[in-house]
Order: sequence, then structure tokens, then C-alpha cells
Amino acid sequence: MIELQGLTKRYGDKLAVDGLTCTVRPGIVTGFLGPNGAGKSTTMRMMLDLDSPTAGTVLIDGQHYRQLKDPLRTVGALLDAKAMHGGRSAHNHLLCLAQSNGIPRSRVREVLDTVGLTSVAGKRSKGFSLGMGQRLGIAGALLGDPRILMFDEPVNGLDPEGIHWIRNLMKNLASQGRTVFVSSHLMSEMALTAEHLIVIGQGRLLADTSMADFIAQNSRSYVRLRAPETERLLDVLAGAGITAVTTEDGHLEVDGTEAARLGELAARHQLVLHELSPQQASLEEAFMQLTAESVEYHAHSAPPVGAGAPPGGGAAVPPGGGWGADWRKKGS
Ligand SMILES: Nc1ncnc2c1ncn2[C@@H]1O[C@H](COP(=O)(O)OP(=O)(O)OP(=O)(O)O)[C@@H](O)[C@H]1O
Ligand SMILES: [Mg+2]
Repeated sequence: MIELQGLTKRYGDKLAVDGLTCTVRPGIVTGFLGPNGAGKSTTMRMMLDLDSPTAGTVLIDGQHYRQLKDPLRTVGALLDAKAMHGGRSAHNHLLCLAQSNGIPRSRVREVLDTVGLTSVAGKRSKGFSLGMGQRLGIAGALLGDPRILMFDEPVNGLDPEGIHWIRNLMKNLASQGRTVFVSSHLMSEMALTAEHLIVIGQGRLLADTSMADFIAQNSRSYVRLRAPETERLLDVLAGAGITAVTTEDGHLEVDGTEAARLGELAARHQLVLHELSPQQASLEEAFMQLTAESVEYHAHSAPPVGAGAPPGGGAAVPPGGGWGADWRKKGS
């Protein structure tokens, strides 16, 4: 278990983490979400005592990190896949970690096998691809067989097979009763992996809730209907006190009434339905909705194709480096 109490980090006048209080529990995968610069990596560094809090505390199974007798056997972490000596082979990198932490040598081969790097164990890690580096970082996290695992964007650079593998790995680790805390910007992946979510924006806690509740609370769910006799269906719904909205493409959308009830109502009036589908927003939509106001770094959107050539013709990058409103203002 990881417990944060009023955790705060200030860099100069930048409040990177602002009074975070939450608990990461064992037995489930907890996703850690937030826009770029929200303070996720800073929080994780403070959990591992790599950065000291300006205020507040982090307890790892009831202890401060520096009080842990065998830190690598208690917490395994992948924060930065590049944080290793590039001149060392994958095997030697892990062996150094094992020997300096009282972990048996045999464990090195085991974790190399687990992450699929056995065939390149003797190769220097500086020649590794991004995905291979991530795998080696994950091997380091698993080395001490820890009860708590922390991964900062672990699927970054992994191929589809690798993403699938790490999803199952995390779920398995959690099902063994371990605490698994993972940040990611890949919402579709997070939706499949995490059971619980901690969401932050500009350093502050925005949500600490189950995945299902997060989506339900931060997005609209409704039922979509399509019928050849739309007007009759609207009358029947209105007669039952149900408000429906007609969309541009001729569908009806109904909030707050279950699909089953709508289907039964239509059947009772012998109305044919071509569609009756409950619509639940995705994690991505719910995340965008919740964090809209705390996104610090907005990209400019690209000008529509055919919207006119940039000043001077050709595909020049506008002053300031980005497409969008700025360029149009300056170019007109
Ligand atoms: N060592 C540092 N010195 C000064 N400012 C820092 C330092 N580390 C982080 N920050 C600032 O703290 C804020 C939080 O950064 P952090 O890296 O924790 O965000 P993040 O949520 O991990 O973002 P991302 O999704 O982009 O990885 C940012 O504004 C960042 O610029
Ligand atoms: Mg980060």
C-alpha cells in the first residue's frame, strides 16, 4: 500500500504537486492519469525518495522509503527507461542491481526471461530500441519480487504484442495481491488495465475512484434509437413522459431511461426499431471532460486542408512553430 498525505512539491514558483492525499491499494491495478505536466512523474519520484517533498509525506507499507531495509524487495519501479549505464549489457545491468540489493543471481535470468530479453542479455543496453529499454526497465522493477510496483508510462515504445504482454503482467501482479501503480496517456489501454483511477491536474487531485464510476460520473450515458416511424416513436415516448432529442442523422437520443424500458415501450405500441443501443462514453472522453480546465499545454489545431496556403506559399512552418490561429492571424 502507498499512502500520500498532503504531498506537495514546489519548484521555485511552480507548484508541481499540490497537497495530494490518497491511497494506492494492493490487489488491483491503479491508473495514474493527468495531462502533460500535471505532476505524475514528480509524485512518483517523491514516492521513491528521489525528490524530497516541500510538504506532506509518503508511506510505503507504513514506512518512509528511506526506512525500508531492502527497498528493491519492497518497491520495484520503472520511472525512466533511459536511466541505466548504456555500456553495460542487459545481464550486467541487472546483476549490478541484484548484487547491491542482496538479490540472488539466479533472479537475473528469470526476469530477463519474463520480459523476453534472454536472447540479447549479453548486448549493451545503449544499442537497445525504446521498447527493449522499457522491457529492461521492467525487468529491473521485477528483480526484487517486490510487493509494490510502480511504472511511469511503461507502454511507451512497446509494440502491440508488448502492450498486450504488459497489460497481462500488471493484472497478474495485482491478482497476486501486489500494489500496482501505473501512469499512462494511452486511455484505451488504461481502460483495459486499471480497475481504479487517481487523476490529477496541475498537481491537484481531481478524482480517486473506480474506473466504472469515473466514466459514469464524468461523461454522459444515453440510449440511441432509430426507427422507421420516428414521429410515432416520439409521440409514444412523450406519452410516457420521456424526452428524446432528434439528431441531425435522424436518430433519437434519450437520457435517463434504460434501453430495456424503451424497447418494451416500443414493442407495446408495435413500433419497429432499427437500433436500440446504450451509449457509454470512453475513458478518453471522460478524462478530457474532467481535465479540460487543467490542461496546461494546448496544441494549435492544424488548418483544414485547402483552407489557403500559408504566407509566402508552400508548407512553411509559421512563426512560433505551430499551425493554427496564431498563423492565420499573422498571415492575414
Ligand atoms: N526538476 C524540476 N525542476 C523544475 N520543474 C520541474 C522539475 N520536475 C518537474 N518540474 C515541473 O513540474 C511540473 C510537473 O511535471 P511532471 O514531470 O511531474 O509532470 P507529468 O504529469 O509527469 O507530465 P507528463 O505527462 O508530461 O510526463 C511541470 O510543470 C514540470 O515542468
Ligand atoms: Mg511524466
